[in-house]
Formats: sequence, C-alpha cells, structure tokens
Amino acid sequence: MLKNKEIILGVTGGIAAYKAAELLREMTRREANVHVVMTQHAQQFVSPLTFQTLSGNPVLSEMFRLFMGSKIGHVTLADIANLTVIAPATANILGKIANGVADDLLTTMVMAMKVPVLFAPSMNVNMWESSFVQNNVERLKAYGYQFIGPAEGDLACGSEGRGRLADIAEIIEKIEDIFTKKDLQGQRILVTAGPTLEPVDPVRYITNRSTGKMGFALAKMACRRGAMVTLITGPNYLSLPRSDIPQIVVHSAREMREAVREQYDDCHIIIMAAAVADFRPQDTRGGKIKKRENGTYALELEKNPDILKELGENKGDHILVGFAAETSELMENAEAKLKEKNLDLIIANDVTQPGAGFGVDTNIVKILDTRGRARKLPLMTKEDVADIILDQVVKLVKKKEKGLPWPRNW
Ligand code: PMT
Repeated sequence: MLKNKEIILGVTGGIAAYKAAELLREMTRREANVHVVMTQHAQQFVSPLTFQTLSGNPVLSEMFRLFMGSKIGHVTLADIANLTVIAPATANILGKIANGVADDLLTTMVMAMKVPVLFAPSMNVNMWESSFVQNNVERLKAYGYQFIGPAEGDLACGSEGRGRLADIAEIIEKIEDIFTKKDLQGQRILVTAGPTLEPVDPVRYITNRSTGKMGFALAKMACRRGAMVTLITGPNYLSLPRSDIPQIVVHSAREMREAVREQYDDCHIIIMAAAVADFRPQDTRGGKIKKRENGTYALELEKNPDILKELGENKGDHILVGFAAETSELMENAEAKLKEKNLDLIIANDVTQPGAGFGVDTNIVKILDTRGRARKLPLMTKEDVADIILDQVVKLVKKKEKGLPWPRNW
C-alpha cells in the first residue's frame, strides 16, 4: 500500500519528536520514500542526522535553501508528495496552519499542498483542551485536514489525560486508510473471529486453537475500505489498531449466536471466520470436578447451534461468507458447507499446511463461489487474504446493486 509513495514527514518541536523516528522506520519498512521536514524547534529534541540516516534522504528545514540543487523546496516537496504527515504536531503548528501563517519550510509547504495532510497532535492535556487549540482543530478539520489522536494516558510533562501521540500502529493504519479506495462505503459488515469456550465446570472449558487473527484481519481491512464493521469475537489476546470497530466479546457458541442474531438485521454482509465449537459439555457442573485416584472420566457432549446454517435459512438480502477449516477432503467438505449453509462464498482452509490456519499471521486458502469456481491463493498474510476475500465481496455487492441474477436458496 505504501510502496513507492512519496511521503513528507513533518516533525515539530515536542517531546514526542523521538517517536517520529519509529514512525519513519515503519513507513520505510513498507517501502515508502520519506522526506523529513523539521522545524527549528524539533531540532532541539532530535538531531536531523537520525532522520537522515533512517530515511536515506536529506532532512530539510531551511526555507531559503534550494532543493535538489536548483528547486524551490516548499513547492517541489508539495508537488512530489502523495501525503504529508505531521507527527508530532504541536499546538503551535496547528495554530499557524489553521490561521494561514506560512513562516517556515513546513508551513509554506503545507499551504502549497493539494494532497492529504494528516496531523498527529501531541501536547500537554490542558493545551489540547484549550479553546485556542480546539478551535484551530475544528477549523483545520473543516478545511479537510485529517487527524489521528491524540491518545489518552501518562504525559511526558507528568500529568495524565489526552495529549499523547497516537500509537505508531494507529498512525500507520490511518495512513494506509487514507490511501485505500473506499469500495465498501455504505456497507455494514459483521465479522466473527476467534474461538468459543464451552465450560466443563467453573474452572475448565473446551475450546480450539483459533486466536482471532483471521477475523481481526478481515475486520480491519473491511473498515479500511469504508465499511461499518462490527466484530464479534471469542476471547483473544489481540489488539486492533483501529478504535472505530466496535467489538463484542463472547465466550460460548450460544453467546456468539445471540450476539450475531442481535446484529443480523442491521448488517448487509456477514463473514464468519470464528471457529465455533460444534459441541459443548452436556452437563456443566456447578462445582469443580474432583480428582479421583482410579478410574476414567467421560464427558458427554451435545451439539451446539450451527450459527451460520441458521443465518443461511433466513438469508434475505444478506451476503453470507463462511470458512471451512479442514484437515482432509478440503474441497468436498467446503463445497458441502457452501451448499448446506446457503452461503455466497466459502473460504476453504486446509489447517494442516505449514503457514496456514490457526495462530499464524499467514494463511493458504481457496475461495469457492456458488458457481463452482475456486480461486486458489498462495501463502500470504492474513491481511492480504482478507483483502482478496473482500474483493470478491465487492463483486457480489455490485452484482446485487445492479439486480443481476442472485443465488437465493439452493
Ligand atoms: O483465528 P486464527 O488463529 O487466525 O485461525 C483462523 C481460522 C483457522 C480459525 C479460520 O481461518 C477458519 O478457518 N475459521 C473457520 C473455523 C471453523 O469453525 O470452520 P468449520 O468448518 O467448523 O465451520 C464452517 C463455518 O460455519 C465457519 O464459518 C464457522 O464460523 C461456522 N460455524 C461452525 C460451527 C457452528 N456451530 N456454527 C457456525 O456458525
């Protein structure tokens, strides 16, 4: 996404200036070509040499110095850039740009800019909450400038509250978001992720190896593409670098079923990546099962509801996408589930392959549709898999909007 993008990183004079170095690393890791512009005040906090070394480009700060031998710096930078990110953005830079002051390289460059400008503010909480800063932020937003953060927490000045530079992962996510085509705008998508836990007694449960990574990747990429996403997930240890995805955490399959049912009517598209337990202990004990010296234990299991099958029986206008986690007869089993659950797409996932399935950041899948077509994907990150699944979903949405023949019941 950021590959070969020309990004200007504006660094202004705040204590969080050192974090801009990490942001720069993350951008160059994604193969963006980053040009750092520092204010005079920023150079009090971090040396330009740090940014020059990390970006591989000269650091610019002088207003009256020609760029690349003979070019006028602020105009040239404004022309070549695909995006400007100002991180950290101080109260001073917000105030200057909001009020049309152009008195150094960074402010003149921003004024000459026609591409998106993203501010990541960082300052003392009282400064952030002051009417001056808030009015300037409102004014900048009204002009079309974008913001990420600030976040809440401990501040370098010793106080606590809103004013921390947003997490680097969140800033990167926002940058990727800015570059992403919003082809799912207006779509409400429900994604399920993770395992379910089925209690045996108050201290034990049965579950599976799902970590939620595949579902989280789908939720993130769908949101990036403009969809309104709700994520229903089993217990997990993951964090999403987006605060705009509501998460509903459930434990058992029956809880997941209730949560899905509550959201169903409000959604256009449901993607079930969750590994829902097919069975649960029949008799959940009130107290902890005691250890016996001799003998074996038998756990009687009963069937859980098949959430996706129930949705398929009441499909209406929804687009339904399921996964099939298999250890043998991948295609036969996936095709059977596609039909049995009345789905539009199924993602066949051979979880025995190295780099595929549970717990890893990558996956290897085949996407099957109702016409019997199968698209085989090589090993790729779960985010890339998610994006390709969403490409297929976009095609289905377009088809539906055009009123083209739509598979109803099998
Ligand atoms: O979470 P990760 O660690 O990233 O791992 C990803 C994954 C392997 C869990 C994921 O890629 C995956 O394959 N998810 C589906 C797991 C699964 O439950 O597959 P299944 O073949 O048992 O179920 C078929 C479909 O029906 C699934 O969409 C499932 O969500 C749904 N289902 C299953 C059982 C049930 N009782 N109710 C359901 O709705």
